[in-house]
Amino acid sequence: MTEQLSRKQLLDASRRMVELGLNRGTAGNASVRCGGDILITPSALPVAEMTEQDMVLLDAEGKVLQGGKPSSEWRFHRDILKARPEIGAVLHMHSTFATTIACLGRDVPAVHYHIAIAGGDTIRCTPYSVFGEQNLSDLALEALHGRKACLLGNHGMIALGKDLADALSVALEVEYLCEIYWRTLQAGEPHILTQQQMHEVQEKFVGYKKRS
Ligand code: 13P
Repeated sequence: MTEQLSRKQLLDASRRMVELGLNRGTAGNASVRCGGDILITPSALPVAEMTEQDMVLLDAEGKVLQGGKPSSEWRFHRDILKARPEIGAVLHMHSTFATTIACLGRDVPAVHYHIAIAGGDTIRCTPYSVFGEQNLSDLALEALHGRKACLLGNHGMIALGKDLADALSVALEVEYLCEIYWRTLQAGEPHILTQQQMHEVQEKFVGYKKRS
């Protein structure tokens, strides 16, 4: 894929996150692999004003190769892409329901079997840590172990995918799960699926493929 196409896809994904209500204003950011480098959204620029040329090219260590100021969260984008070779895109959102659960400081339990889409029977939530710092990246990497999503305490959500479309579909599932968890908490005591029940789901998901 050419760098120009990656720039377009990164802008499209950033716009979709806003259209879908997952982000607003300058909240959130996104990155995608670009050869051995990383293309990432710029810092503090509302998506409505972003152009393809505003995307910032970083090397694998996070050094700016081309463009202006990268997202303040470039450390966790860099560290995730470095640690997880199967992952091609990283999305960060301050979506309402994921952030609500993150503000409760709770992991999302197996309240619905679709949690398996994020890679396990929980979605972990990190402790609170100030945005843009290495400590937040370290906590995120730990919470993402074996998972395609995590919550950042008092902050938001990270979703991963093999490409931007995959990461966006994971993000939508996580937001839905967090909404269901929140709603069940309002109505009573959520019924949580057991490890055995989740194991069965993981096995069934292996043979369940989206028709393309
Ligand atoms: P940036 O505009 O620097 O990407 O920061 C937004 C954000 O969501 C920080 O967590």
